Amino acid sequence: MMLGEQCYLPCTPHGILELLERNNIETSGKEVVVLGRSNIVGKPIANLMLQKRPSGNATVTLCHTRTKDTAFHTKRADILIAAVGVPKLVTADMVKEGAVVIDVGVNRIGKTAAGKSILAGDVDFDAVKEKAAAITPVPGGIGPMTITMLMMNTVQAAKTAAGLL
Ligand SMILES: NC(=O)c1ccc[n+]([C@@H]2O[C@H](COP(=O)([O-])OP(=O)(O)OC[C@H]3O[C@@H](n4cnc5c(N)ncnc54)[C@H](OP(=O)(O)O)[C@@H]3O)[C@@H](O)[C@H]2O)c1
Repeated sequence: MMLGEQCYLPCTPHGILELLERNNIETSGKEVVVLGRSNIVGKPIANLMLQKRPSGNATVTLCHTRTKDTAFHTKRADILIAAVGVPKLVTADMVKEGAVVIDVGVNRIGKTAAGKSILAGDVDFDAVKEKAAAITPVPGGIGPMTITMLMMNTVQAAKTAAGLL
């Protein structure tokens, strides 16, 4: 994947790329800031978005717990991707007006009276949506995209195994 060769892409980063491409969100030359350097989200999405490919050609900054001033970086982001696992870490004052905000986080912050988990993203959705040009909700954003890309990989693997690709 890092060499830009044909391969099965990790599902969550692939879902983010598809979402950007299908919503005609330009990434070429844009400042992309990724929060979180996990092997399944942060590192691969940062790498994919700097490659010469659709939804790529961005200038990418990758932040983590040792980053000195995270807000300094997030405020510069044309596209901000949060994958940290900290509920509502990204507040409105950390986001540039008109930014595109992708919230990967899925955090269980309590239970309903019926015992169902209450979910929150890594972004303070209600406040940040007032500034963002586009923003993904939690639940119902990157989660379903991840599942869809897993199905896509599965179908392609089956076709390859059957000699159809
Ligand atoms: N929607 C989906 O389909 C999907 C898929 C995968 C994950 N997720 C969710 O995404 C979130 C992240 O999961 P993950 O597996 O990618 O990561 P992870 O393994 O949980 O690691 C968290 C990353 O965030 C960084 N981080 C934590 N607090 C931070 C802070 N205050 N400022 C900056 N960076 C911070 C950590 O930095 P260090 O490396 O320095 O510790 C680490 O790199 C979780 O809520 C998870 O449930 C959702």
